Amino acid sequence: MSHAGLKRWVAEVARRAKPDRVLWCDGSQQEYDRLCAELVAGGTFIRLNDRVRPNSYLARSHPSDVARMEDRTFICSDREEDAGPTNNWIEPREMRATLERLFDGCMRGRTMYVMPFSMGPIGSHIAQIGVEISDSAYVVVNMRVMTRMGRAVAEWLGDDGDFVPCVHSVGAPLAPGQKDVPWPCSESEKWIVHFPETREVWSFGSGYGGNALLGKKCLALRIASVMARDEGWLAEHMLILGVESPGGEKTYVSAAFPSACGKTNFAMLIPPASFKGWKVSTIGEDIAWIKPGHDGRFYAINPEAGFFGVAPGTSEASNLNAMKSLQANVIFTNVALTLEGDVWWEDMTHEAPERLIDWQGKEWTRGCGRPAAHPNARFTVPAAQCPSIDPKWEDPGGVPISAFIFGGRRSSTIPLVVEAPTWGDGVYMGATLGSETTAAITGKVGVVRRDPMAMIAFCGYHIGDYFAHWLRMGEAVRHPPKIFRVNWFRKDAVGKFVWPGYSENMRVLSWIVERCHGRAQAVPTALGLMPRYDDLSWDGLERFGREQYAELERIDGQAWQQELGSHDELLGRLGQKLPPELDLRRKRLHAGLAA
Ligand code: OXD
Ligand code: MN
Repeated sequence: MSHAGLKRWVAEVARRAKPDRVLWCDGSQQEYDRLCAELVAGGTFIRLNDRVRPNSYLARSHPSDVARMEDRTFICSDREEDAGPTNNWIEPREMRATLERLFDGCMRGRTMYVMPFSMGPIGSHIAQIGVEISDSAYVVVNMRVMTRMGRAVAEWLGDDGDFVPCVHSVGAPLAPGQKDVPWPCSESEKWIVHFPETREVWSFGSGYGGNALLGKKCLALRIASVMARDEGWLAEHMLILGVESPGGEKTYVSAAFPSACGKTNFAMLIPPASFKGWKVSTIGEDIAWIKPGHDGRFYAINPEAGFFGVAPGTSEASNLNAMKSLQANVIFTNVALTLEGDVWWEDMTHEAPERLIDWQGKEWTRGCGRPAAHPNARFTVPAAQCPSIDPKWEDPGGVPISAFIFGGRRSSTIPLVVEAPTWGDGVYMGATLGSETTAAITGKVGVVRRDPMAMIAFCGYHIGDYFAHWLRMGEAVRHPPKIFRVNWFRKDAVGKFVWPGYSENMRVLSWIVERCHGRAQAVPTALGLMPRYDDLSWDGLERFGREQYAELERIDGQAWQQELGSHDELLGRLGQKLPPELDLRRKRLHAGLAA
């Protein structure tokens, strides 16, 4: 390691945090295996039965440390107005003073790991380098799966390469002789802090997911969104998938869904049998970095190397590709343990096993009324293990994007699919995206939450400026993607989902692809361009009739008045930062729906 700036920074953090030792991670399999063995010895990991789930582990977090924490996430821009109304802000000098207090001696008794990592294929012009410092071996092994981590990245950095410094501590120093606990974290103080101007991340007190694996939400979305604004690209909370026609024509699309809307399932969709010869392939299932290419199109990479997916609800029926990805080399967090030494979670199988050990390590019996897995239980798995992974998923140049799709979980109001007539209309659709909350996100269930571009928790600057950036990006390329909004979750009068979803989403996806190539029909409506029943393919789903389809496409005037009220409320919060183009669309939509 020859990077003087990096060495200096690591020494500085070590001086403050006072770990017992500093270890530079090489990212090797041996290092991974050794740390996993240490985690088993320390009680953080349980090694699963190698006959059923080779090389896999189960971790149980502290019950207070089970999810991202939006109320503890801060964007500390120099000026409050640059963080905007959707972010928590603290004056940077004040925040730095707090961090100095928190980090003083916070790694006592622990090892401080240094992890150089690349978001995106090493050397890609779209990729970025970060270096995470953490006192958690759980974080190291997860980072090795989720990013390209270790020696190769340090070499690529060379003597003076740029990197985003990311500092993480579980915030649980050990006194001399004090025994560690399986899931150290701070119960009293949790902070996830970003300094957008200096492009730094500091995280304290949590060991879980996006709070601790700082390459993901912190770097790849909050910090990268600021870089993207400044440099003219897009860092988005989007999956990327490819659709291949029987003739071999390949079309890539990128889609934003708020958490708990089946984003991973959509990214790994298996077309119904009637779509003979059609294939869907996966580039990524959570984040997309998208840059203008020389040919006038946008090119996207998946900055991650693994999937950190929600386990509950994942089954062979809902996502066979995910289940096949999970056969070996997986880190599970907060799922249930079977008596055989395998894992289980709600809806993994039709019927739960009779007895389990639940996510808190307690005896569990079928019908006891408690969930066996935490609703936000996760798997961490290498993307390369996914059967649907696209051959170009590590192409440093990215893949060309033909469409952006925005989708939410809406039991009413929002039709199955609408195409935006123009880029500006599409930005309005994304900006006003809403989704009903589920147990995985908040305590309240079924409340519509506005989640612009699914970025409400991830945009590192003023959301009004972000909308303006999106509007500008439509002019950054000669062939901007078409934009669509979808909703798989509409319910009928008795509360049943109307649309079968899952594989059948292919019917909508293939229409979107055909629209991109100018081959499918659509009719104009007050909301945008919509397919008629006969514009979609129904082979193999003949039981889904015109009446049901009409229900999915129905525009309910009263519901839309409420919907528009909620758009007005969101856009009203932007004040001076509301781009006039969006305000114009808001007024047009009011007028169109009134007519
Ligand atoms: C995630 C999320 O964990 O979006 O990916 O919440
Ligand atoms: Mn996500």
